[in-house]
Amino acid sequence: MSAPPLDRAAPPDESALLRQFDATIAAGHRIEPRDWMPEGYRKTLIRQIAQHAHSEIIGMQPEGDWLLAAPSLRRKAILLAKVQDEAGHGMYLYAAAETLGADRADLTDKLIEGRQKYSSIFNYPTLTYADVGVIGWLVDGAAICNQVPLCRSSYGPYARAMIRVCKEESFHQRQGYELLLTMMRGTPEQRAMVQDAVDRWWWPSLMMFGPPDDDSPNSARSMAWGIKRHSNDELRQRYVDMSVPQAEILGVTLPDPDLAYDAETGHYRFGAIDWDELKRVISGNGPANAERIARRRSARDDNAWVIEAATAYAVKHTEVAAR
Ligand SMILES: [Fe+2]
Ligand SMILES: [Fe+2]
Repeated sequence: MSAPPLDRAAPPDESALLRQFDATIAAGHRIEPRDWMPEGYRKTLIRQIAQHAHSEIIGMQPEGDWLLAAPSLRRKAILLAKVQDEAGHGMYLYAAAETLGADRADLTDKLIEGRQKYSSIFNYPTLTYADVGVIGWLVDGAAICNQVPLCRSSYGPYARAMIRVCKEESFHQRQGYELLLTMMRGTPEQRAMVQDAVDRWWWPSLMMFGPPDDDSPNSARSMAWGIKRHSNDELRQRYVDMSVPQAEILGVTLPDPDLAYDAETGHYRFGAIDWDELKRVISGNGPANAERIARRRSARDDNAWVIEAATAYAVKHTEVAAR
């Protein structure tokens, strides 16, 4: 199916533009920043990309807390590289939001003022070094399930950013799993530490896929627009199916007595998720929400002089070059 050619000489006709937009989506082609797009599509994308960018930046905090306490130089180097990657992911994503006309500083203000959200998972504290491993294995694992289909998202800059992000996420997951395998081969105390971290992170990681499909009002629209490729419940199931065999190899127990393989469907069945907990954490009442936002606020305020200085330098540099 190919899009009908637009008559460039004619005044813009919204219905013709919409037809071309719909045809581009239906053909599986990308929408690019120069293309006309419905306002709802632009707004939905800005909201989703901003929320994603904020998650990458806030997500640096729980693991960043362990940078000075990493148990060896090797672990410190790995963790430092991982946390820096997350900063990079945030930057690609803010840049993708800018192609839609959003302003990066404005998005940060909205995050700090609680007008835009970030992933609920980063509102849980990291209590031991095993949490670093479990975040890599489960949280980055869930992020991979969510993000691989976004490499085929209908908006070009978002889809392209996701390709590199996903490559880095797979390194993140492997470093976490390798850390956990090492700890599981260690002392009984280390094994108990891993099990405790798995007990605390398993259910919140299932919540990362968002509310169930019958309580996710915007999902259908996002799927019709090709922004989203699979429903929340489909992705959650994929994540459970992927994680259970990995838990077995690791030798940990996932904290769900209802978890069982269903030979008929070929999927693992799992217990009921506490959606009230997700609502509580998303609405700002998780264990670390206030701390995460306070730290992001002081990073913005304390480092404002760097942006001012860099901007003044860039202006001066452009003026000198123009002489
Ligand atoms: Fe990331
Ligand atoms: Fe990551």
